Amino acid sequence: LWQRAAMLAAGLVLAACGKQPEPAPAPAPTTEASAPAPAPAKVYVVGTDAAYAPFESQNEKGEIVGFDIDVVSAIAQKGGFEVKFVNTPWEGIFNTLQQGDRDFLVSSITITEERKQTMDFSNPYFDARQLIAVRENSKVAKFADLKKLKVGVQTGTTGDEVVTQLLGKNSTNVKRFESTPLALQELQAGGVDAVVADNGVVENYVANNTGAKFKTVSDDAFPAEQYGLAVRKGNTELLEKLNKGLADIKADGTYDQIYAKHFGAKPAEAPAAA
Ligand code: ARG
Repeated sequence: LWQRAAMLAAGLVLAACGKQPEPAPAPAPTTEASAPAPAPAKVYVVGTDAAYAPFESQNEKGEIVGFDIDVVSAIAQKGGFEVKFVNTPWEGIFNTLQQGDRDFLVSSITITEERKQTMDFSNPYFDARQLIAVRENSKVAKFADLKKLKVGVQTGTTGDEVVTQLLGKNSTNVKRFESTPLALQELQAGGVDAVVADNGVVENYVANNTGAKFKTVSDDAFPAEQYGLAVRKGNTELLEKLNKGLADIKADGTYDQIYAKHFGAKPAEAPAAA
């Protein structure tokens, strides 16, 4: 039903935009009673590093699921276009965008000034902050306590950036992993003393792996982060579609429903814009 609705909506939008080829002359009567298939909607290829629950991960069936996936699917449905999610390792995810292998990315990507040099971001769709995971018996009480410790991060993330800044560019104590779950597994194995990653992911892992005996340590010294959808620089057509869809799903309650589904509570209302 969902799909049918999306296709229908897509057809309407295409028709409204006048993007469809001139209607063909009335088809010659055939013996088939079924209506002609609607013109296929544009399918955008969306890259995501699906090892980042609850934002993007693979379920037992191998399907890519999560908060980010639901948000983008809802945006697509509103906008009358289709999306196909492709699991894409974080290292190199921005290259797949640059090279045109992906049309856009949803991957809990923090909007940063540096990244804005090479790609464009949608309006923010989620607030985040770094959070420290340590073993239950750890004495770590604040970020600065990690200075002389071995710290696991996912390579090239904002967690990597802040930890590299604290420990020093050449520190061999920054242990970089391909994925955040791998870093957290190493914390359990004792190979690192702490992991720094996005709060939602750390909280989710700790809650779902009670046997790991971790605790979390927050620190206001971490800057506030916001997630955005990334498109190729200059792809304003797609960016506008994504921003419009995001505004629409925020306005009609869909975003709040998705938020509640994954995080159990409504997001705090942002102060009203001037
Ligand atoms: N928010 C962090 C960043 O932008 C980490 C994102 C990692 N995402 C992922 N799906 N592995 O650097």
